[in-house]
Amino acid sequence: MKFFIDTANLDQIKDAQELGVLDGVTTNPSLMAKEGITGRNNILKHYVDICNIVDGDVSAEVIATDLQGMIKEGEALADLHEQIVVKVPMIRDGVKALKYFADKGIRTNCTLVFSPGQALLAAKAGATYVSPFIGRLDDISTDGLNLISEIRHIYDNYGYETEILAASIRHTMHIIDCAKLGADVMTGPLSAIEGLLKHPLTDIGLEKFLADYNKGN
Ligand code: E4P
Repeated sequence: MKFFIDTANLDQIKDAQELGVLDGVTTNPSLMAKEGITGRNNILKHYVDICNIVDGDVSAEVIATDLQGMIKEGEALADLHEQIVVKVPMIRDGVKALKYFADKGIRTNCTLVFSPGQALLAAKAGATYVSPFIGRLDDISTDGLNLISEIRHIYDNYGYETEILAASIRHTMHIIDCAKLGADVMTGPLSAIEGLLKHPLTDIGLEKFLADYNKGN
């Protein structure tokens, strides 16, 4: 399973990179705004700064919602850095843009996916990644994990190579459940990744080992 961090915060990206398990970064316009990164030039520079910290894929989202606008923006984003993956919303022109980018060899992440049908369309259009937002489904009393399971089933039926990027991960159990269901990638906050580390028996066991070692020294 690939681990992506879902933030535009450079300190958190550096922390995750230093942990040694980071495979990429996802961002969106809200995450950029949260860091106070506004204006096209600043946003583009920030993507390059992120690419210079991590080794893996960095999703950069188009703002246009029409085909020609998405193509223009997406090509400019892809030209920024070889690690950039163009993030395209699951709308009618987005599907066309996914197909266009796939034909041009530009990698994409289809975002704002909330149903198996949308995920099927994204795969048909040749998306590199599909991003089902599981936390936002949970927020409205719908089982987000079930969507991961349905998409896995559909993609396996036909051998689609689009990678399932479980997005809108809110906590550590989401990561574990998505891993059980066969999501290819998860993107979430650093705190959810760090939660995987924790077990009280590890801490108690280590304390005892060190105490016993010190008895003889
Ligand atoms: C994915 O690419 C999105 O940036 C993200 O996971 C959305 O998460 P949220 O629902 O916590 O905002």
